[in-house]
Amino acid sequence: VTFTAKELSVSTLQDFEKVAAAQGGCWCMYYHRTGPVKGDPQASRSEANRRDKRKLVADGRSHAIIVYADGEPAGWCQYGRADELPRIDARRTYNDAGGANNVPRLWRITCFFVARRFRRQGVSSFALKSALRSIRNQGGGTVESYPVVSKGMRSAPEWMWFGTPAMFEREGFKMVAALGTSGVLMRRRVRPQAQGATGQTH
Ligand SMILES: CC(C)(COP(=O)(O)OP(=O)(O)OC[C@H]1O[C@@H](n2cnc3c(N)ncnc32)[C@H](O)[C@@H]1OP(=O)(O)O)[C@@H](O)C(=O)NCCC(=O)NCCS
Repeated sequence: VTFTAKELSVSTLQDFEKVAAAQGGCWCMYYHRTGPVKGDPQASRSEANRRDKRKLVADGRSHAIIVYADGEPAGWCQYGRADELPRIDARRTYNDAGGANNVPRLWRITCFFVARRFRRQGVSSFALKSALRSIRNQGGGTVESYPVVSKGMRSAPEWMWFGTPAMFEREGFKMVAALGTSGVLMRRRVRPQAQGATGQTH
């Protein structure tokens, strides 16, 4: 299988939606919101998420790397600037660990999602590499992630959207602090792409 990557954008939105339809109604909106949407029954919440996602993508405020397996959309890695993914700032454990603490040019990697039949083939890991390259091309900075360590959560793929510590260690991330008992805060610096370079490596 050959993997390729594209940015989520107005022109790839339909590929994202094809995979996201199996995701359970989030449309990867959760971390874009500062808090819960109140009062909506599940079905209309899903519709609201889809609509809001389309708007954010059109406005260039929602970023992800979509991975294609032999040309077919297989999954993604959502990333973005800290202010685009503010829900993280509402996590108690994140604040207990020191929070964003005015880190300049802070980026977040919040979600991986892979269509069932493409799982366990490295789609997430490929998406992560591509997201870091993309962050580098957008000026770099500090990138943080929140991978899952809890044994209970790691026994079920549904709870693994933050990825694993090993995925991030392989890309040079270091542990910063525990996030309660379920996850860890990891960070790495990404230097900006040198001028005139091709952007093929990170
Ligand atoms: C978690 C998920 C993104 C992994 O994607 P993937 O492409 O299969 O992952 P990869 O093949 O790149 O493997 C990445 C790592 O995850 C681990 N992993 C993958 N599936 C796993 C599972 N079911 N249980 C435990 N670990 C798993 C791999 O062993 C690898 O670990 P390592 O880095 O420690 O070696 C995928 O299973 C998924 O989309 N799960 C559903 C998430 C979900 O429904 N979330 C709720 C709504 S967002």
